[in-house]
Amino acid sequence: MDALTLLLERRSTAALADPAPAGPALEAILRAALRAPDFLRLRPYRFLLARGEGRQRLGALMAAAAERAGRGPDTVARAARMPLRAPLVVVAVARHRPHDIVSRFEQHLTAGCAVMAMQMAAQAQGFGGIWRSGWPMFDRNLHHALNLTDADQIVGFLYLGTPTTPPDPPPAADPAAFVEEL
Ligand SMILES: Cc1cc2nc3c(=O)[nH]c(=O)nc-3n(C[C@H](O)[C@H](O)[C@H](O)COP(=O)(O)O)c2cc1C
Repeated sequence: MDALTLLLERRSTAALADPAPAGPALEAILRAALRAPDFLRLRPYRFLLARGEGRQRLGALMAAAAERAGRGPDTVARAARMPLRAPLVVVAVARHRPHDIVSRFEQHLTAGCAVMAMQMAAQAQGFGGIWRSGWPMFDRNLHHALNLTDADQIVGFLYLGTPTTPPDPPPAADPAAFVEEL
């Protein structure tokens, strides 16, 4: 698939099964993340991989965070199962490096670009994925349970695996509705 087709036809897939990207395929995905645009190459990110039993550990931490935040029993039970929706979950973290020139916001954008780069690299290799957020992305107790500090902000949970059915073509969209000339 050529690069423009990949950009124009990228789809998210929520129904994901084994196999997850592993070995050289996963390496390529992580390399793509490290090629995200990055002002002054601060590399303001970390990637936590949850696969195999690591997904259960992540689910347990999410459930504990939900409980601690006083969320209801349904949310707590759902939280424990969330990472099991794909064989690999990449917790993408923006790690702010205080800098005179590059703001925290710009560093967060770099980490966000890395998420999309990983999703595209996965799709380019025949895998699928979906970028998710929800309350866990903002829960500071979950951050601390993952050994993240106040310099860190989760910017996404990238669920990766093999699509169980081929995704529908992307909906048509007209750029003219979002563009104006200056
Ligand atoms: C920062 C961010 C957070 C998102 N969080 C969720 C989420 O929690 N749940 C969800 O279903 N989709 C979420 N999405 C949207 C999906 O990743 C996806 O883009 C959407 O389902 C549309 O599908 P498409 O990418 O094939 O157009 C999020 C996207 C972004 C950029």
